[in-house]
Order: sequence, then C-alpha cells, then structure tokens
Amino acid sequence: MKNRMNKFTALILALAVILSPAACGQKAAPETETKPEPETADTEKNEQAQETEAPAEKVLVVYFSATGTTKGVAEKIAAVTDADLFEIVPVNGYTDGDLDWHDSKSRTTHEQNDKSARPEIAGEPVSLEGYTTVFVGFPIWWGEEPRIMDTFAESYNFDGLTVIPFCTSGSSGIGKSGQNLAELAKSGTWLDGKRLPSNVSEEDLQAWIDGLKS
Ligand SMILES: Cc1cc2nc3c(=O)[nH]c(=O)nc-3n(C[C@H](O)[C@H](O)[C@H](O)COP(=O)(O)O)c2cc1C
Repeated sequence: MKNRMNKFTALILALAVILSPAACGQKAAPETETKPEPETADTEKNEQAQETEAPAEKVLVVYFSATGTTKGVAEKIAAVTDADLFEIVPVNGYTDGDLDWHDSKSRTTHEQNDKSARPEIAGEPVSLEGYTTVFVGFPIWWGEEPRIMDTFAESYNFDGLTVIPFCTSGSSGIGKSGQNLAELAKSGTWLDGKRLPSNVSEEDLQAWIDGLKS
C-alpha cells in the first residue's frame, strides 16, 4: 500500500513539472510598464503658434528739420518706439535768408509756390528693408510739407510698410501734407498724420502711437 502511494505521489509531481509554463518554453509575462504619451500634440501646437506669430516690428523715423524742432520730436519718437533715425539732409542747406517767409523772393517761398520743385537730398539713401513702420516728420512750410519731402516720397518704394506722417509748426495743423506725400509715393499704407508740439511728452507720444494700432 505504501509503495502504491509513493508511485501516485511521484506521478502527480511529474505531471506538475511537465505542465508548468517554464517547461513549455513560455516566458513569464513581463510586468507591464506604463510609458508617458509622447508630447507630439503639444509640440506641434507650439510650432504652429510660432509660425503664425506676426513678424517683429521694426521702426524707422525719417525726418527733415531746418531749425531743429522736428529733429527733437523725431528723437523722442525714436526713443519711445526703439527706432532707428534717418535725417533728410538737403544738398543745398537752407540759410536763414532762405527760410525767411516774410520775403516773397526767398528760396522757400519760391519752392513752396512751385509744386514741381524737388530739392535734392544729400548722401546715400536709407534702406527700408526689414522695417515694418516708418514715421516721416517735417516742418510745415506755407501750410504744407516742404518740397524736399516730396523728393523723399517719390524716391522710395514703401510697399509692405506702414507710414505715419508727423509735423511740427508754429500753429498750423498737418492739413493735407500726409495725403500729398502718400499720392506722390504711390506705395505703402499711409496713416493719418499728426502735428506734434515741440515739447510733446513721451507719455503723449506713447498714447498717440498706441491709438494708431487700434
Ligand atoms: C519757410 C517757412 C514757412 C513756414 N510756414 C508755416 C506755416 O504755414 N504755418 C505754421 O504754423 N508754421 C510755419 N512755419 C514755422 C515752422 O513750421 C516751425 O517753426 C517748425 O516747427 C520748424 O521746424 P524745424 O525746426 O524742424 O525746421 C514756417 C517756417 C518756415 C521757415
């Protein structure tokens, strides 16, 4: 009887060994690891946002100033907008006599009375490449832009640029000067211009410039 029990036990043990997974060549199932989802969706969104961002604004302030008033305002605009500056300098500079508006024979009286007058600009032209916005400043002479500003407007291609005229004066407003320049330029998006007082504050300039964007 004892002998039969031993054989039976041995048979059970043998079967257990034979039927075990290791004995069938199977690998024990590995523990499942939960890997984090790859961040492809977010990365793509970020890349798209970067692609659609507007190009950085780059500003140039161009000005003509016979006696320094417009130059002072132009420098303030450049400080507020972090802009580059370019001065329009006449080949033949204006003397005090030239600027005498009481004299009907003075050079400026003649030039302002002659819509086709185009005083020459000295030096190398400024490159407008890379700029997004150009402020264009000048004094008011006989109610409008000096003729050298007409030379400037006709000499450049303003395609793709926002152009913002500004002026200084004794008291006159900017009138039609901005429109005159836009018509002569035939390119660019010209916004309404503004007369600025010589002592304009940086806060007032900032408020005006912010208003232009809305
Ligand atoms: C020839 C000449 C004509 C001018 N005509 C006017 C005018 O019509 N209205 C006005 O308010 N100021 C007039 N002014 C004054 C200038 O516009 C003003 O002094 C301006 O701020 C000067 O700028 P600038 O120093 O940058 O040259 C005239 C000045 C000159 C020299």
